[in-house]
Amino acid sequence: MDLDQTISALHSAFVAQLDRASTLEAIEAVRVEALGRKGKLSEISKNFGKLPPEERKTAGARLNQVKQDLEARLEARKADLQSTALDAQLESEWLDLTAPAPGPRPGSLHPVTQVQREIEDLFVSLGFTVLDGPEVETEFYNFDALNIPADHPARDMQDTFWLKDGRLLRTHTSPVQVRGLEKLGPPLKMIAPGRVFRNEEVDPSHEHTFYQLEGMMVDRDVSVAHLIYFMKTLLSAVFHRDVTVRLRPGFFPFVEPGFELDIQCIICAGKGCPVCKQSGWVELLPCGLVNPAVLRYSGVDPEQWNGFAFGLGLTRLAMMRYGIDDIRLFSSGDLRFLRQF
Ligand code: PHE
Repeated sequence: MDLDQTISALHSAFVAQLDRASTLEAIEAVRVEALGRKGKLSEISKNFGKLPPEERKTAGARLNQVKQDLEARLEARKADLQSTALDAQLESEWLDLTAPAPGPRPGSLHPVTQVQREIEDLFVSLGFTVLDGPEVETEFYNFDALNIPADHPARDMQDTFWLKDGRLLRTHTSPVQVRGLEKLGPPLKMIAPGRVFRNEEVDPSHEHTFYQLEGMMVDRDVSVAHLIYFMKTLLSAVFHRDVTVRLRPGFFPFVEPGFELDIQCIICAGKGCPVCKQSGWVELLPCGLVNPAVLRYSGVDPEQWNGFAFGLGLTRLAMMRYGIDDIRLFSSGDLRFLRQF
């Protein structure tokens, strides 16, 4: 084999080796073996001294050509491998930035809670304090102190769930009127949102568990005009529009005089539907001036102080607000319902 053939043989051997190299390390090994200082091609050039000048020239040119060719192939193969590796990395680390984040879905507040918080903000801005009371109440706070003695027919309308020890699940938020006055005394402007219970025949507009928001203002010389002012402010803030209301006399032993403030049904616009029991009106705001007996039970002198009170049906209000025609949806725990808020 002459020198030229030896060089050509080495060239094709390295080209074949390079084709098989599938990692950057393997490519580097080929480079060292072929072009390194102690590599095969350098070995050849060491013997060039023994050659006649003419042959040395052609062999040198051939060797350089082969070296350049191999260098170019090495680079190309490296670039090839790097781009394959990059493609693989891009594929494996691919991220859909528009996909929902992993983990639990963000929740939302219950529609009743949303309405409650809105009304709380409104009344706080009007100088009212937000109070809380127990859901398990004594007979005294739920009935007696509100001027509803044991033999009073008003108790029949608020049948509830009794505990063995004589306590009961409160039927309204009104007990907090008495608790609030006992604790803070007059003058007092308070609201008390919360859960209440009744032993009800359940239907689209009656539930055994629902929410009310009690309100009371006790000061000197409070009149029905004050009451109407606050109720109007409340309703226009809640509905963000003018609602049609009517005031009827209403009887509650703890107010005198007592009123029933109705709003025209927003679901059917007064035409009649299951929520308004086909009447076109929804009872929303029973209210009145605080009965002096209640003040006395709360340790407040009715000669010095008087006030107004109202009991807003929070659940019913949320139904009006969002156009919900079945009260049972609120405590159904049905996520298809809840996710809409
Ligand atoms: N507590 C009464 C009810 O639940 C509502 C009410 C509150 C009426 C305050 C008048 C004044 O039916």
